Amino acid sequence: MELKITPYEFGERPEVTKPDIEFYNQMGEEGIRKMVSRHYDLLRESPLKDMFPKDDSLFEIAKQNSSDFFIQICGGPDYFNQHRGKPMMSNRHSPFSITPEGRITWLNCYKQAIIELDIPKELKLSFWNYIDPFSNWIVNTPTHVYKIGKK
Ligand code: HEM
Repeated sequence: MELKITPYEFGERPEVTKPDIEFYNQMGEEGIRKMVSRHYDLLRESPLKDMFPKDDSLFEIAKQNSSDFFIQICGGPDYFNQHRGKPMMSNRHSPFSITPEGRITWLNCYKQAIIELDIPKELKLSFWNYIDPFSNWIVNTPTHVYKIGKK
């Protein structure tokens, strides 16, 4: 099984399909919380670490919000809507500069967390095939930002 990162263009919004409900059935709510927790722990050791809360209790809240989202997307209860409102993921990421390289790091941390799951490989792929295209929607900053102004 290969979890491949698709090299989308900046600004491209590829079609997205939610993960197979069987992923949720096998992972359960707690399994998804554990996977997201692992993802966040890996992000904290990655070049993206400065984007995430340094304070441990705020970091736990960030994990909880992200878990709530993925539980909802995978077919579970709509905790994210209840606690945070409509997802509007691109808007929520607008305070952060998310580059194509940031996307690759984010996805590689997920790749590690997914590889470690004890579920059939088709279900791992089903979750991956959701985050790989959708992550491109979140990219809001091109690799090279040219300064425009006086010389
Ligand atoms: C492409 C690379 C991405 C980066 C670098 C990134 C980074 C971040 C950062 C810095 C936060 C704020 C953390 C905090 O709560 O303090 C955040 C929040 C969040 N991200 Fe991402 N993100 C990425 C992609 C995604 C994708 C693809 C999804 C969903 C499929 C997602 C879902 C979330 C959710 C649910 C939150 C919590 C929002 C809230 O509670 O308001 N992120 N992300």
